[in-house]
Parts: sequence; structure tokens; C-alpha cells
Amino acid sequence: MVDPFGREVTYLRVSVTDRCDFRCTYCMAENMTFLPKKDLLTLEELERLCAVFIDKGVRKIRLTGGEPLVRKNIMHFVRQVGRHVDAGRLDELTLTTNGSQLARFASELRDCGVRRINVSIDTLDPDKFRQITRWGDLDKVLEGVRAAQAAGLKIKINAVALKDFNDTELPEMLAWAHGEGMDMTVIETMPMGEIGEDRTDRYLPLSKLRADLENRFTLEDIPFNSGGPARYVTVRETGGKLGFITPMTHNFCESCNRVRLTCTGTLYMCLGQEDAADLRSALRASEGNELLSAAIDEAIGRKPKGHDFIIDRTTRQPAVSRHMSVTGG
Ligand code: GTP
Ligand code: 5AD
Ligand code: SF4
Repeated sequence: MVDPFGREVTYLRVSVTDRCDFRCTYCMAENMTFLPKKDLLTLEELERLCAVFIDKGVRKIRLTGGEPLVRKNIMHFVRQVGRHVDAGRLDELTLTTNGSQLARFASELRDCGVRRINVSIDTLDPDKFRQITRWGDLDKVLEGVRAAQAAGLKIKINAVALKDFNDTELPEMLAWAHGEGMDMTVIETMPMGEIGEDRTDRYLPLSKLRADLENRFTLEDIPFNSGGPARYVTVRETGGKLGFITPMTHNFCESCNRVRLTCTGTLYMCLGQEDAADLRSALRASEGNELLSAAIDEAIGRKPKGHDFIIDRTTRQPAVSRHMSVTGG
């Protein structure tokens, strides 16, 4: 699958549910309305879609949400998709999780072919963690991280950088993550969906954070590429990797290799654009995959050059109306 700008699409992000057991303030409003369950594709349908994408050249699948581990029977689905890894048809099956259910699922994930996961933790202060997630229990998440380590999963910690919230704490978090043998990525907050507050107040450009980190650590740019949007450095003092995801200040769209599938069968060709393709009709129209394959080709043919995210300090409107939780980033 090659888009009109010559970029090959090899990475599929699959949001298996829009629901989440947390309500991170930069992600969702407290009173979010989630999709009615009847609108969801079944896990068998999502599995069929994944198989078709793999047939068409996808080599990496990341499960996201909302929170992927809150979807009922999710482990059966992970096991089925994991078979493509065993068969050498998929290089990587991974997931991005808030960690709340990890203690329960870590070893099973490893059994199903998952080798590496990203866990979102924005602060190591239990009170602040409760504040940012609205009710999340940091201890439970850290218990999940330990279970994942014990199961042999490689872990990357994702932290959204938020001004006057975790900016001064991030150097300490980095030392913690690297000390535990985990990599870390820091992320600029993106203007997606109404959250009932003004994101621009918390927006922190990562160039500013990088300068702060350089007061304490020696950061060495490296060419490492995980196949995702982050640009990496090695931290000389710890030997660990740190990724910067900078959609707002440094666009990485020219090397984009991904599309995102939602739990209703909608395909978004770009995180930062409204345009989407409905794959559900093609999926349900026939048991064969020809229609579906054609619908995917048509969608890839419309993949836009890049996102239009800007932090708009005049209207302060989100650039994209849907929430991050619809596609899991
Ligand atoms: P790795 O495979 O470990 O590189 O992970 P990843 O960065 O691809 O995935 P993850 O789910 O950890 O995403 C981290 C952050 O990157 C999330 O906030 C995503 O929204 C963001 N992200 C991923 N892809 C894109 C993209 O194409 N555009 C933008 N703007 N953000 C993205
Ligand atoms: N901007 C940037 N990152 C976000 N995430 C959720 N909402 C936003 C946003 N508006 C992050 C989560 C998680 C990842 C999937 O996306 O913290 O790490
Ligand atoms: Fe849930 Fe992730 Fe959004 Fe937080 S960022 S509310 S954990 S989907």
C-alpha cells in the first residue's frame, strides 16, 4: 500500500474500544459519551480486517483504545492476531495501554506473541496521577508495570508533557524509567476533541523540555526508528532511550507509515484530519475480501500529506473534533 506521496503504509493502529477506565483531562471530558455497544464491530470482524491489512503489506499492528484491555474477550483477539507473528506475516503485535489491567493480563500478553508495550504514565505522584486521570490508582498501574517486567515484556513509558503539571518532574521520571530498564517517550499535547478546558494553557513545546533535560543529562541524537513518530536520543548517563513526539513543533508527517482503524470499522488516514473511510459496509457486504481490499486501496489513495494541528490561541478550538480515544492516537 503506497499513498499518493510515495509513503508505504506498513503500520496499522487498531482502536479496539473507545472506552477507557480513566478520563485523562487532556484526552477526554469527564462526562464522555461512548459508542453504544451495538455499533462496535465484533472482534471476529476486527480480526478479519487485520488479516486483510496484513495481506496488503502491514507489518506492525498496535492495539489501542480508549483502553484496549477493557474490551471484553480481548485476549482471545490478541491471541488470534498474534498467530500472524508466529507465522512470520507480521513483525510486531504491540499495544498502548494505561496499565490499569496489566497486572491481570501481562503474562498472557507475552504468551500471545506480544513482546513490547507502551504504558502511559504522566506522573509518579499518586495524587497528581489521580488528578490527571480523574480517579486512576497509580499503585495499580505500577503493579501492572512490574507484572509486565516479570513477564519479560519490554516497556516504554509514554508521558504527555504538560506545562505546570509534570514539566519539572519529567527529568526524575526519565531517571526512574531508565533505572528500571524502560525507554520513555514524551509527547506534545494535541488539540483533539473538546475536553471542557483549554489545552493551550498546558501546552509545552518539547524544545523547551529538551533544554531543561540537557541541564541534567547528555542527550545524543541517534538514528533509531521504532517505526513510529518519535525521534530518539540516547541518554549518556543512563544508557536508555528517550523519544520526542513533536507534532506541534516539528512535523514528522513526511515519513508517516500508518493508518488507524476504529472499533466501528472506520479508517482514518491521518490522526490530525477529519477525513475517514467506512470499511464496515465493504466488510459486511460480502464474505470475500475483494470489496474490502478495494475500499482500503481507495482510502490509502486519499491519505493526506499531513495534519493541520495548530495551537490556536485565538479561537482555542480543537483542530480535530474527535477525541484521541477514538483512534488511540
Ligand atoms: P512505537 O511503536 O513505540 O514507536 O509507538 P508509537 O509512538 O507509534 O505509539 P504510541 O501509541 O505509544 O503513541 C505515542 C503518541 O504518538 C500518541 O500520543 C500518539 O497519538 C502519537 N502518534 C502516533 N502516531 C502519530 C501520528 O501519525 N501523528 C501524530 N500527530 N501523532 C501520532
Ligand atoms: N495529545 C497528546 N497525547 C494524547 N494522548 C491522549 N490524548 C492526547 C492528546 N490530546 C496520549 C495518551 C497515550 C497516547 C495513546 O496518547 O497519554 O499515551
Ligand atoms: Fe484513557 Fe488513554 Fe485517554 Fe487517559 S489518554 S483517558 S488512559 S484513552
